[in-house]
Amino acid sequence: MTNPLKLRKQQPRSGFLTPMLRELRPIEHGLLQDHLQRLSPESRILRFGCPVSSVFIETYCQNKGRPKPIIFGALIGETLCGVVELRFGENIPQNVAELGISVEDDWQDTGIGTKLMEIALRCARDNGIAVLEVNFLPHNTAMRRLTQKFGANFSYQMGMTKAIIALPRSSYAVVAGSKRPQ
Ligand SMILES: CC(C)(COP(=O)(O)OP(=O)(O)OC[C@H]1O[C@@H](n2cnc3c(N)ncnc32)[C@H](O)[C@@H]1OP(=O)(O)O)[C@@H](O)C(=O)NCCC(=O)NCCS
Repeated sequence: MTNPLKLRKQQPRSGFLTPMLRELRPIEHGLLQDHLQRLSPESRILRFGCPVSSVFIETYCQNKGRPKPIIFGALIGETLCGVVELRFGENIPQNVAELGISVEDDWQDTGIGTKLMEIALRCARDNGIAVLEVNFLPHNTAMRRLTQKFGANFSYQMGMTKAIIALPRSSYAVVAGSKRPQ
């Protein structure tokens, strides 16, 4: 029998447009704020683990005193419909990044989150990051499923689920594109 979920994934809900996935240049990082402000109240809670105000989002996006994040976006024209952020600094070791991800409500469950995770993991590996941490609310089934697909191990801390994705270093031949098993 056809799985209706899979069928839906082949047909993004917002017409025939297919988002383009790419890293945002630092000058484009301002797009993140508009994207996060467009999330529904429920998705905002899931993204940040609690209800947050527009002012909080503004401050979060200013990223004051922290290294610049790496941000990949799913873009429809110049509008972001999904984002994955790799954030650094603040009490976390240098080879660890914190991952935050969000897909706008109309675009959820169409495979964009999976594509954003793929691209973020590849970039993290290429930049020598050994571990990705993702924190989310325990009832966030979509995020649990998404991180599970990328080999996460789970623990629970202060009411949040912490997913740890270990990234073994690729050998030189893999980085260079060799298809030979290593
Ligand atoms: C979590 C989130 C990023 C997933 O993005 P997405 O584009 O919907 O993900 P995908 O379509 O690639 O689906 C990923 C998996 O989750 C499952 N899934 C998606 N939405 C789901 C839902 N509402 N309930 C249960 N499972 C769901 C999919 O079936 C898929 O699993 P499969 O490949 O085994 O079929 C998105 O739901 C979101 O932005 N949520 C709000 C913000 C948030 O929760 N961020 C996480 C904290 S940083």
